[in-house]
Amino acid sequence: MKHERVETNVGLMIILTIVALSFGTLVELVPLMFIKETNEPIAGLKPLPALELEGRDIYIREGCNNCHSQMIRPLRAETERYGHYSVAGEFVYDHPFLWGSKRTGPDLARVGGRYSDDWHRAHLFRPQDVVPESNMPAFPWLFQKELSGEHTGAKMAALRAVGVPYTDDDIAGAGDAVAGKREVDALVAYLQQLGTLLQSRR
Ligand code: HEC
Repeated sequence: MKHERVETNVGLMIILTIVALSFGTLVELVPLMFIKETNEPIAGLKPLPALELEGRDIYIREGCNNCHSQMIRPLRAETERYGHYSVAGEFVYDHPFLWGSKRTGPDLARVGGRYSDDWHRAHLFRPQDVVPESNMPAFPWLFQKELSGEHTGAKMAALRAVGVPYTDDDIAGAGDAVAGKREVDALVAYLQQLGTLLQSRR
Protein backbone atom coordinates (compact mmCIF):
# COMPACT_ATOMS: atom_id res chain seq x y z
CA MET A 1 0.00 0.00 0.00
CA LYS A 2 2.81 2.38 0.93
CA HIS A 3 4.44 1.63 -2.37
CA GLU A 4 1.29 2.53 -4.20
CA ARG A 5 1.39 5.97 -2.61
CA VAL A 6 4.88 6.52 -4.02
CA GLU A 7 3.98 5.22 -7.45
CA THR A 8 0.92 7.40 -7.82
CA ASN A 9 2.45 10.62 -6.48
CA VAL A 10 4.82 12.13 -9.06
CA GLY A 11 6.26 14.74 -6.68
CA LEU A 12 7.12 12.18 -4.04
CA MET A 13 8.48 9.85 -6.69
CA ILE A 14 10.82 12.57 -8.00
CA ILE A 15 12.10 13.40 -4.52
CA LEU A 16 12.72 9.78 -3.61
CA THR A 17 14.43 9.16 -6.96
CA ILE A 18 16.79 12.08 -6.32
CA VAL A 19 17.54 10.76 -2.83
CA ALA A 20 18.29 7.29 -4.19
CA LEU A 21 20.54 8.62 -6.99
CA SER A 22 22.42 11.00 -4.68
CA PHE A 23 23.06 8.22 -2.21
CA GLY A 24 24.39 5.97 -4.96
CA THR A 25 26.61 8.72 -6.33
CA LEU A 26 28.09 9.53 -2.93
CA VAL A 27 28.78 5.88 -2.20
CA GLU A 28 30.67 5.63 -5.51
CA LEU A 29 32.54 8.93 -5.38
CA VAL A 30 33.42 9.80 -1.81
CA PRO A 31 35.65 6.78 -1.11
CA LEU A 32 37.65 7.57 -4.29
CA MET A 33 38.58 10.95 -2.86
CA PHE A 34 40.30 9.28 0.06
CA ILE A 35 41.87 6.19 -1.49
CA LYS A 36 45.62 6.72 -1.82
CA GLU A 37 45.80 4.87 -5.13
CA THR A 38 43.50 7.33 -6.84
CA ASN A 39 44.93 10.63 -5.66
CA GLU A 40 48.64 10.05 -5.00
CA PRO A 41 51.04 10.63 -7.90
CA ILE A 42 52.88 7.53 -9.16
CA ALA A 43 56.62 7.32 -8.39
CA GLY A 44 58.64 9.80 -10.40
CA LEU A 45 55.71 11.95 -11.53
CA LYS A 46 56.73 15.59 -11.93
CA PRO A 47 54.78 18.62 -13.08
CA LEU A 48 55.31 19.31 -16.80
CA PRO A 49 58.33 21.54 -17.53
CA ALA A 50 57.61 24.89 -19.22
CA LEU A 51 57.97 23.76 -22.85
CA GLU A 52 55.86 20.61 -22.35
CA LEU A 53 53.24 22.64 -20.51
CA GLU A 54 52.92 25.01 -23.47
CA GLY A 55 52.78 21.95 -25.74
CA ARG A 56 49.86 20.63 -23.75
CA ASP A 57 47.99 23.89 -24.21
CA ILE A 58 48.63 23.74 -27.96
CA TYR A 59 47.32 20.16 -27.95
CA ILE A 60 44.11 21.45 -26.37
CA ARG A 61 43.89 24.53 -28.61
CA GLU A 62 44.25 22.46 -31.79
CA GLY A 63 41.60 20.00 -30.59
CA CYS A 64 43.87 16.96 -30.73
CA ASN A 65 41.81 15.56 -27.86
CA ASN A 66 38.72 15.50 -30.06
CA CYS A 67 40.24 12.64 -32.05
CA HIS A 68 42.67 11.11 -29.55
CA SER A 69 42.01 9.68 -26.10
CA GLN A 70 44.69 9.46 -23.42
CA MET A 71 43.34 6.56 -21.42
CA ILE A 72 44.21 2.92 -21.92
CA ARG A 73 41.60 0.61 -20.43
CA PRO A 74 42.68 -2.54 -18.60
CA LEU A 75 41.55 -4.82 -21.43
CA ARG A 76 43.80 -7.19 -23.30
CA ALA A 77 43.04 -5.69 -26.70
CA GLU A 78 44.10 -2.27 -25.42
CA THR A 79 47.22 -3.26 -23.48
CA GLU A 80 48.49 -5.38 -26.40
CA ARG A 81 48.20 -2.41 -28.69
CA TYR A 82 49.09 0.56 -26.50
CA GLY A 83 51.01 -0.76 -23.49
CA HIS A 84 50.38 -0.62 -19.75
CA TYR A 85 46.83 0.43 -18.90
CA SER A 86 46.43 3.95 -17.50
CA VAL A 87 46.43 4.40 -13.72
CA ALA A 88 44.87 7.28 -11.78
CA GLY A 89 48.19 8.35 -10.23
CA GLU A 90 49.54 9.33 -13.65
CA PHE A 91 47.04 12.15 -13.97
CA VAL A 92 47.03 13.91 -10.60
CA TYR A 93 48.76 17.00 -12.04
CA ASP A 94 46.53 17.15 -15.15
CA HIS A 95 44.10 20.07 -15.20
CA PRO A 96 41.89 19.44 -17.08
CA PHE A 97 42.13 15.70 -17.73
CA LEU A 98 42.46 14.78 -21.41
CA TRP A 99 41.25 11.19 -21.12
CA GLY A 100 38.50 11.50 -23.70
CA SER A 101 36.55 8.62 -25.17
CA LYS A 102 36.45 9.49 -28.87
CA ARG A 103 39.07 7.63 -30.85
CA THR A 104 39.14 8.76 -34.45
CA GLY A 105 42.89 8.24 -34.17
CA PRO A 106 44.80 5.95 -31.80
CA ASP A 107 45.07 6.47 -28.04
CA LEU A 108 48.11 8.61 -27.19
CA ALA A 109 48.48 7.85 -23.47
CA ARG A 110 51.81 6.04 -24.08
CA VAL A 111 52.93 7.53 -27.38
CA GLY A 112 56.02 9.07 -25.71
CA GLY A 113 59.22 7.61 -27.14
CA ARG A 114 57.43 5.47 -29.72
CA TYR A 115 58.52 7.65 -32.64
CA SER A 116 61.40 10.06 -33.18
CA ASP A 117 60.99 13.83 -32.91
CA ASP A 118 61.52 14.02 -36.68
CA TRP A 119 58.73 11.52 -37.28
CA HIS A 120 56.35 13.67 -35.21
CA ARG A 121 57.38 16.84 -37.08
CA ALA A 122 56.85 15.20 -40.47
CA HIS A 123 53.55 13.73 -39.28
CA LEU A 124 52.22 17.02 -37.94
CA PHE A 125 53.31 18.88 -41.06
CA ARG A 126 51.53 16.47 -43.38
CA PRO A 127 50.36 13.15 -41.83
CA GLN A 128 50.03 11.47 -45.25
CA ASP A 129 53.79 11.80 -45.83
CA VAL A 130 54.45 9.19 -43.14
CA VAL A 131 51.11 7.36 -42.93
CA PRO A 132 49.71 7.42 -46.49
CA GLU A 133 46.20 6.29 -45.54
CA SER A 134 45.93 8.82 -42.69
CA ASN A 135 42.94 11.11 -42.45
CA MET A 136 44.47 13.21 -39.69
CA PRO A 137 44.52 16.91 -40.62
CA ALA A 138 47.82 18.76 -41.16
CA PHE A 139 49.01 21.43 -38.73
CA PRO A 140 51.58 23.40 -40.77
CA TRP A 141 51.11 26.66 -38.86
CA LEU A 142 52.72 25.14 -35.78
CA PHE A 143 56.02 25.40 -37.66
CA GLN A 144 55.74 29.15 -38.06
CA LYS A 145 54.42 30.44 -34.78
CA GLU A 146 56.86 31.15 -31.98
CA LEU A 147 56.10 31.10 -28.29
CA SER A 148 56.58 34.34 -26.38
CA GLY A 149 56.58 32.73 -22.95
CA GLU A 150 54.66 35.73 -21.70
CA HIS A 151 52.04 33.72 -19.83
CA THR A 152 53.90 30.51 -19.06
CA GLY A 153 54.80 31.54 -15.52
CA ALA A 154 51.25 32.67 -14.80
CA LYS A 155 49.91 29.34 -16.04
CA MET A 156 52.24 27.52 -13.66
CA ALA A 157 51.20 29.77 -10.79
CA ALA A 158 47.54 28.99 -11.55
CA LEU A 159 48.26 25.26 -11.59
CA ARG A 160 50.15 25.60 -8.32
CA ALA A 161 47.04 27.14 -6.79
CA VAL A 162 45.19 23.89 -7.48
CA GLY A 163 47.92 21.68 -6.06
CA VAL A 164 50.55 21.14 -8.77
CA PRO A 165 53.91 21.43 -6.98
CA TYR A 166 55.70 24.00 -9.13
CA THR A 167 58.51 25.82 -7.33
CA ASP A 168 59.18 29.56 -7.36
CA ASP A 169 62.21 28.85 -9.57
CA ASP A 170 60.06 26.91 -12.06
CA ILE A 171 57.72 29.86 -12.32
CA ALA A 172 60.45 32.50 -12.51
CA GLY A 173 62.32 30.66 -15.26
CA ALA A 174 59.28 29.56 -17.28
CA GLY A 175 59.10 32.47 -19.70
CA ASP A 176 62.77 32.29 -20.69
CA ALA A 177 62.58 28.52 -21.07
CA VAL A 178 60.03 28.77 -23.88
CA ALA A 179 60.56 32.21 -25.44
CA GLY A 180 61.48 31.92 -29.10
CA LYS A 181 60.74 28.18 -29.36
CA ARG A 182 58.42 27.12 -32.13
CA GLU A 183 55.00 25.76 -31.27
CA VAL A 184 55.71 22.46 -32.96
CA ASP A 185 58.72 21.90 -30.69
CA ALA A 186 56.57 22.44 -27.61
CA LEU A 187 53.91 20.03 -28.91
CA VAL A 188 56.45 17.34 -29.79
CA ALA A 189 58.12 17.71 -26.37
CA TYR A 190 54.72 17.21 -24.79
CA LEU A 191 53.96 14.12 -26.90
CA GLN A 192 57.35 12.57 -26.21
CA GLN A 193 56.85 12.42 -22.45
CA LEU A 194 53.30 11.01 -22.54
CA GLY A 195 53.04 7.84 -20.52
CA THR A 196 56.77 7.22 -20.27
CA LEU A 197 56.78 6.64 -16.51
CA LEU A 198 55.11 3.27 -16.90
CA GLN A 199 56.44 0.81 -19.46
CA SER A 200 55.53 2.07 -22.87
CA ARG A 201 54.75 -1.24 -24.59
CA ARG A 202 53.91 -4.78 -23.44
C1 HEC B 1 40.27 14.60 -37.23
C2 HEC B 1 40.90 13.71 -36.28
C3 HEC B 1 42.30 13.99 -35.79
C4 HEC B 1 42.79 15.13 -35.21
C5 HEC B 1 42.08 16.46 -34.96
C6 HEC B 1 44.14 14.83 -34.82
N1 HEC B 1 44.46 13.54 -35.16
FE1 HEC B 1 46.20 12.59 -34.75
N2 HEC B 1 45.57 10.94 -35.75
C7 HEC B 1 44.33 10.81 -36.35
C8 HEC B 1 44.28 9.54 -37.05
C9 HEC B 1 43.12 9.02 -37.85
C10 HEC B 1 45.53 8.90 -36.86
C11 HEC B 1 46.01 7.55 -37.41
C12 HEC B 1 46.71 7.75 -38.75
C13 HEC B 1 48.03 8.44 -38.59
O1 HEC B 1 48.94 7.92 -37.90
O2 HEC B 1 48.20 9.55 -39.15
C14 HEC B 1 46.30 9.81 -36.02
C15 HEC B 1 47.58 9.53 -35.55
C16 HEC B 1 48.29 10.34 -34.67
C17 HEC B 1 49.54 9.97 -34.07
C18 HEC B 1 50.28 8.66 -34.22
C19 HEC B 1 49.79 7.71 -33.12
C20 HEC B 1 50.33 6.32 -33.21
O3 HEC B 1 50.37 5.66 -32.16
O4 HEC B 1 50.69 5.89 -34.31
C21 HEC B 1 49.93 11.04 -33.29
C22 HEC B 1 51.18 11.15 -32.45
C23 HEC B 1 48.91 12.07 -33.43
N3 HEC B 1 47.93 11.60 -34.28
C24 HEC B 1 48.97 13.30 -32.83
C25 HEC B 1 48.01 14.30 -33.02
C26 HEC B 1 48.15 15.64 -32.50
C27 HEC B 1 49.30 16.13 -31.66
C28 HEC B 1 47.05 16.33 -32.92
C29 HEC B 1 46.72 17.80 -32.69
C30 HEC B 1 47.72 18.75 -33.16
C31 HEC B 1 46.21 15.40 -33.67
N4 HEC B 1 46.84 14.19 -33.72
C32 HEC B 1 44.98 15.73 -34.20
C33 HEC B 1 43.29 11.71 -36.28
C34 HEC B 1 43.37 13.00 -35.77
